[in-house]
Amino acid sequence: KKVVLAYSGGLDTSVILKWLQTAYGCEVVTFTADLGQGEELSPARKKAELLGIKPENIFIEDVREEFVKDFVFPMFRANALYEGQYLLGTSIARPLISKHQIDLALKTGADAVCHGATGKGNDQVRFELSYYALKPDIKVIAPWREWELTSRTKLLEFAEKHQIPIAKDKRGEAPFSVDANLLHSSSEGKILEDPWEEADEMVYQRTISPEAAPDKATYIEIEFEKGDAVAIDGVKMSPATLLTKLNELGKANGIGRLDLVENRFVGMKSRGIYETPGGTILYAAHRGIESITLDRGAGHLKDEVMPKYAELIYYGFWYSPEREMLQALIDKSQENVTGTVRLKLYKGNTTVVGRKSPVSLYSMQHVTFEDDQGTYNQRDAEGFIKLNALRLRLRALGQGGPKS
Ligand code: ARG
Ligand code: SIN
Repeated sequence: KKVVLAYSGGLDTSVILKWLQTAYGCEVVTFTADLGQGEELSPARKKAELLGIKPENIFIEDVREEFVKDFVFPMFRANALYEGQYLLGTSIARPLISKHQIDLALKTGADAVCHGATGKGNDQVRFELSYYALKPDIKVIAPWREWELTSRTKLLEFAEKHQIPIAKDKRGEAPFSVDANLLHSSSEGKILEDPWEEADEMVYQRTISPEAAPDKATYIEIEFEKGDAVAIDGVKMSPATLLTKLNELGKANGIGRLDLVENRFVGMKSRGIYETPGGTILYAAHRGIESITLDRGAGHLKDEVMPKYAELIYYGFWYSPEREMLQALIDKSQENVTGTVRLKLYKGNTTVVGRKSPVSLYSMQHVTFEDDQGTYNQRDAEGFIKLNALRLRLRALGQGGPKS
């Protein structure tokens, strides 16, 4: 028996690693991904070796470019927001991690995969739906739903008994749980559980507060090609480099903080603190370039399907036929979403202050308050309004007239 474990190198997944070896007696393959979480990955190799993993069973990969290019960017083409606010930073990373675990299972001949999500949350669903979609016969091990290490004390005892090194700051209970990648960081649980209590400043890790941000605005220009950002201030960048740069700009200007109570797929409400500095800027910029390049009908239609698309990603259905169908619709809409947006970043705010495109649909000639030289006949509007008013007038004349 062989299992591919999503291994961060931290205490919890190290305990899982040992537990898999002892309770299940299986050979463990570790997969550690650099998703831009901002942690050194080299200690993960040492630690895995120390815990008895054979060097050929240790896999560490930098997946940042793949993450942004194949997951974050396609999602941003849709302007996806869950429940109107959440930019889905954790949700969108899970299918990528799952895919790599399944790839490794095939490569190493493993018959099982394992993740460290709890039995109460969304992440277990996202991981496992992705595993099953990619390898229907895979065996899934979810330690948090199975084992007896249900308290911190028991976990630490287990770690000590199996000589798992415990960092000094990990002895005590972490004050809240964090998940981070290039798109966002999310903090929830413990001291954040009371939704009436404002989160302490120390919870925030990748943005300075809007109050502490400079009093002077920062202006930037983002260039788009077919719906994807390709350059900042005229400098072409790879997807991950570009998002990294936007994160720096967002951080310095206090942009992208969100304090949210959301509905988990399993049915409970949870409160989270999110920081999505670069994503918040990218979202505003993308809407800005769409505003001049998307046809109204196309734009309204994609906005109608957006909540459904976001819900699919939140619920973990990235690898589903309906997500792929919606993606095809969204990608089709982006064919002309090309041009440049100028933004003003100031104390937590992102304001689009300029937009231009070689394929702009915006017509100054038509919209001008000055003489339009006959391009638009204002008299046409009279019949347009009269026919639109017809049923409203009939309703008012008949019985079911509006009650005033
Ligand atoms: N609530 C967010 C989601 O479901 C984040 C979950 C993981 N975050 C964490 N701090 N453990 O996408
Ligand atoms: C977890 O329960 O592992 C994190 C929170 C979530 O998945 O919603």
